[in-house]
Amino acid sequence: MRMHRNTTDMIYAYLNQKGGVGKTTLSIHTAAELAKRGRRVLLIDADPQGSSLTWSNCREKALFTVVGMPKATLHKEIDLMVGDYDDVVIDGPPRVTELARSIILAADIVIIPIQPSPMDVWAAADTVDLVKEAQIYKPELRCVLAINRKIANTAIGRDVRTALAELEVPVLKHDIGQRVTFAETAANGSTVLDQRRSKARKEIEKHVNELRRIL
Ligand SMILES: Nc1ncnc2c1ncn2[C@@H]1O[C@H](COP(=O)(O)OP(=O)(O)OP(=O)(O)O)[C@@H](O)[C@H]1O
Ligand SMILES: [Mg+2]
Repeated sequence: MRMHRNTTDMIYAYLNQKGGVGKTTLSIHTAAELAKRGRRVLLIDADPQGSSLTWSNCREKALFTVVGMPKATLHKEIDLMVGDYDDVVIDGPPRVTELARSIILAADIVIIPIQPSPMDVWAAADTVDLVKEAQIYKPELRCVLAINRKIANTAIGRDVRTALAELEVPVLKHDIGQRVTFAETAANGSTVLDQRRSKARKEIEKHVNELRRIL
């Protein structure tokens, strides 16, 4: 952890050059879960599409601060932005670019969401390479894969872990299932955490617990 960050404990970055894998969904939910636990959270929307910002604009009352910063200078400016927060979550853009490099340099842990399909496993390799490149200079940087949109009781859902082994990055034990409630709740700026009895909510809680344990 860097000294000049003062009070900020952890910077989580959701990154994958592949589009639509769940970077925004998991960023918002991790931020919301941490905020629910009483932490002061900043969500940095580093995707020029601005999906996290749009989500937060749909809300009447903010759950946490969301700022847009799709700039490759993010890693140089982040220390000036995060002082008032306990945790920072960065929602990354699709594509491998200077911006993705900057996010990796800013992060303490890079979480790569992956859907259980061979195409997704192949596509994640570029993002993994980028992280491994950064780890040469920043050995304390953590990286994990997170299986998202897993469909229960399917062969591909079971086999994806074997396929992921070739990326040589640890895979989180707790997967996130394919649950339509993620899309439904997003439509009005809420999250699955607002639901009382929800498997999705439990999965997010376990996801965040596991990340906190790693760190
Ligand atoms: N576990 C899930 N179950 C069901 N739907 C999901 C799940 N995770 C994400 N989605 C849906 O999949 C779509 C893509 O998700 P999301 O926008 O989070 O991906 P992304 O990686 O941020 O995409 P982009 O690369 O375009 O920024 C959204 O419609 C979202 O609601
Ligand atoms: Mg997104």
